[in-house]
Formats: sequence, structure tokens, C-alpha cells
Amino acid sequence: MTPAPGDGPVHVLLVDDDADFRFPLTRRLDRRGLIIREASTGEEALAALASFPADVVLLDVHMPGMGGMETLRRIRESHPKAEVLMLTGHADVQDGVLGIKSGAFDYLSKPVEFEQLFARVRQACDKGRHERAREQEAGFRRWMEQRMAATERLASLGTLAAGIAHEINNPLAIIAEAAGWMRMLLARDDIRSQKTTPQIASALDKLDVSVARAKKVTHQLLGFARHTDTVVRETDVRALAEDTVRLLRPEAESRRAVIEIETATEGNIIWSDPDQLRQVLLNLVANALHASSPGRKVRIHIACQGGHCDIQVRDKGTGIPKDSLEKIFEPFYTTKPPGAGTGLGLSVSRGIVEKLGGSLSAESVMGQGSCFTVRVPRVCEAHEGVACDVNWLDQAREMQKGE
Ligand SMILES: Nc1ncnc2c1ncn2[C@@H]1O[C@H](COP(=O)(O)OP(=O)(O)O)[C@@H](O)[C@H]1O
Ligand SMILES: [Mg+2]
Repeated sequence: MTPAPGDGPVHVLLVDDDADFRFPLTRRLDRRGLIIREASTGEEALAALASFPADVVLLDVHMPGMGGMETLRRIRESHPKAEVLMLTGHADVQDGVLGIKSGAFDYLSKPVEFEQLFARVRQACDKGRHERAREQEAGFRRWMEQRMAATERLASLGTLAAGIAHEINNPLAIIAEAAGWMRMLLARDDIRSQKTTPQIASALDKLDVSVARAKKVTHQLLGFARHTDTVVRETDVRALAEDTVRLLRPEAESRRAVIEIETATEGNIIWSDPDQLRQVLLNLVANALHASSPGRKVRIHIACQGGHCDIQVRDKGTGIPKDSLEKIFEPFYTTKPPGAGTGLGLSVSRGIVEKLGGSLSAESVMGQGSCFTVRVPRVCEAHEGVACDVNWLDQAREMQKGE
């Protein structure tokens, strides 16, 4: 929360080479609840500002060594948030005016009347704090606008993705059907004996592979665009991990990789959407396999404790550069060659996990491997777009009470 101007103690740095001027002033300002630090030279003042959060600097113009004007210039450069009140002799009004031109808040002529000085210090402090509050508010507004623009972009991207997926699915179905029909023709005695039949069969194989690949893309596009089909049920997280290992066994075997599950034998039952969580695990483990060199292990580590369940997918693969750790969750971000990756796995997965009330995060060390953590609540409450079977939910609450 932004402190309102006037909130919190006012910090004042008093810079003057004359100790007889500084001490009584410090005592009086201190009695009014201000926090004071003293400096007797410009150099000392700049050093003090490194650790003292001055709202206002009371700065003598005439000091030996670095003069007041030079000190002012340097303070404006290195600590632009501190307001500077110049203290001039009666004869040096010109210096005060010059000070204001160089960015000082105001100047006061010595001997200074205390109440007047105190009032100016408060004003200077309020001005600085008002400006900072305004800057923070403007920054927050900019951040909100960016987020809203990103959300809108994603929403329209989602609609577009769903449209494209549907449009592509129809011709794909026709291609697949036609290929199937041609394959049937090839099996006929009169055609099977033709010389060109093997070439046609091989072309049909290529068609099948390409149709399967395109279907994978449309399936993921639809997953990306999907909004409302989450249903919370009893979910055995260990069983989900086992499904994942089973489904990805051919992929793992072709890479000579091993997928291991690490978990306690009991306490892996949560209330969530098993189909969607399985989809997330499939995405994460597939990615881990893709990043691993042959013979490496991929581990699925499950720990359900307290109100949530952590499912980690750990690999000892290539790792992810630090500056890509957030980008990988953006839709269509992929480092895989064309045809191999859609760049949708992680963005779909994060969307699913967040809808289930959880989070999906990644940690990685280049050359050593990565760890993706899915954290979901043990009991996902119903909310917009997430339906719950009420009986299940009652049972879930009973389970939590019993623990
Ligand atoms: N376990 C991992 N190790 C290294 N890089 C990964 C891992 N998981 C994801 N990535 C990176 O994140 C990118 C996006 O992943 P994803 O959204 O699943 O799309 P895709 O797998 O289709 O590329 C991948 O292309 C890869 O660069
Ligand atoms: Mg992927």
C-alpha cells in the first residue's frame, strides 16, 4: 500500500559545517518527532544518503570543501527523491535562487525562524511523498493495463484457436477417411498385384502420420481455447502418475529413459479433475523426456500434505535458460523444430492447474535439469467454470476434518 503523504516519520539530513547551528536545531526537530541525521560536509552528506532515507535535506550553501551548490547538484543526480531546502546567509539570496533553478525545493535565509523552517520541511516532505505516490499509482495503472491487454489478447487468441481447430478438423477427417478407403482398395486382389502398389501404400502411411500430427495440434488448440469442462471428482494422484508412465512408455523406451514415481503409499487422494490433471502430467513428462539424453531418469514426485498436493516432474536434461523460465508458459513458445512442438503444452497446463485453484512453476539449472511443480489444493472448491459433485465435496470436507 502506498503511504499517504504525511504518513510515517519524516527523515531529515541536516548538512552544515557549523556545529553550533546544527546541535540546537537537531534537538528541536527531534522533539517534534522528526528523525535527524547530521553531516558537516557535502562529502559526508552524500555518504550518509547511501543508507539514510532522507525525505528532506537541509543544506548549507557555504561549506568548506564541496560547496552547497555542488552538493545540491550531486544529490539531485543520485537521490532525486530527496527534497532539498537550501540554507543561505542574508547576503546570499542569489545562491538560494540559483539553488531553486538547480532543483532545490526552496531556500531559507539564516538566521532561520524555527517554526517557519519546520513548516517548510513538512511541505517539502509532503511534496516528495505526493510525487512518489503518484508515480506508484501511475506504475500500477500501467501494469494493470498491460495485464488486461494480455488477457484480452489471450481471450481472442483462444477464440481464434478454437475456430482454426474446428476448421482444420473437418478436412482432416475427410483426408483420413479417404486414405482409409484407398487402403481398402489396395487390399483388393486386382490392385495388390500392381507394381506401384507399395509406393501408394507408403504414401498412405505418410498421410496417416501427417493427419495424426495435425490432429495433435488441433487437439491442443482446443485445449487452449477450452473454458468450461472441469469437473471435480475423487482423484488418486498416484494412479494418475501410473497412467502417465503407462501412456508414455513407448516414448520413454524409444529414448531409453526410465520414468520413476516417488510417493508415500497412502494419502494420495485429492478432490480435483483427474482427466485434466492427467493431461498436465502427460505434458510435463513428455517435455522432460524430450529434454533428456538417453538413459536418463525422469521422476514424478508426489507429496500431499496439509491443504495441498505437490506433484513434481524432475529431469536431468538440458535445463532452461533463466530468461526463458516465464516465456515457456506463453502460448506457441517452443524451441522444438517445426512439426515437433506446438508450444501449447505448458500454457494449456498452467491454465488447467490455475483453474483447479493451484499453480504451475518451473525451476531449472542449465546443463543439470529442470523441475516443474504442480501445486493443487487437496479440495478444489467449485467456482466459475468448475463444477463439483456435491456429495464428493461433502466427503472431501469430512476427510479434511478427520486429519
Ligand atoms: N523439462 C524441460 N526441459 C527443458 N526445456 C523444457 C522443458 N519443458 C519445457 N521446456 C521448454 O519449454 C518449451 C515449451 O514447452 P511446451 O509448452 O510444452 O511446448 P512444446 O513442448 O510443444 O515445445 C519447449 O519447447 C522447451 O523449450
Ligand atoms: Mg510440450
